[in-house]
Amino acid sequence: MEKQSIVSRSIIKNLIRDAISGMDQSYAPYSYFKVGAALLTRKKNTYIGCNVENASFSITNCAERTAIYKAVSEGEKEFVAIAIAGGPAGVITGYCPPCGACRQALREFVDPKKFLVILAKSTEDYSVYFLEELLPLSFGPDNLEK
Ligand code: THU
Repeated sequence: MEKQSIVSRSIIKNLIRDAISGMDQSYAPYSYFKVGAALLTRKKNTYIGCNVENASFSITNCAERTAIYKAVSEGEKEFVAIAIAGGPAGVITGYCPPCGACRQALREFVDPKKFLVILAKSTEDYSVYFLEELLPLSFGPDNLEK
């Protein structure tokens, strides 16, 4: 499947804009690394997330999982694409690839061969992957079926 057939360039750019706007809400008083993520659903809604850190460091929630949990808690579980942007002190210096936990969290709800992960530096400078490329040979709900 061609990536271009899943979402148009203008939808990608809007999603990147939303991901970058999500960085403004980042709560990152420990790492100062601000991340925003924008998750597009089949119903064409966008859920924006930011990272939420905690003094008990390990319970920090990444921007991607914030967006996923916002969507699921609003009754949406069919996802098309996610855009991610982030950087130290809120300055985008490079791509912000999703951590392993977030790749797995996305995997729960999507077909990795169809779901797009958009890593963005700006609306003009981004890279698009299938989740399959970032999480090959993944373990998902199907593996639990007999
Ligand atoms: N973080 C995210 O929110 N998403 C990523 O894709 C990578 C890392 C956050 C977690 C933590 O608040 C900060 O970035 C530094 O790891």
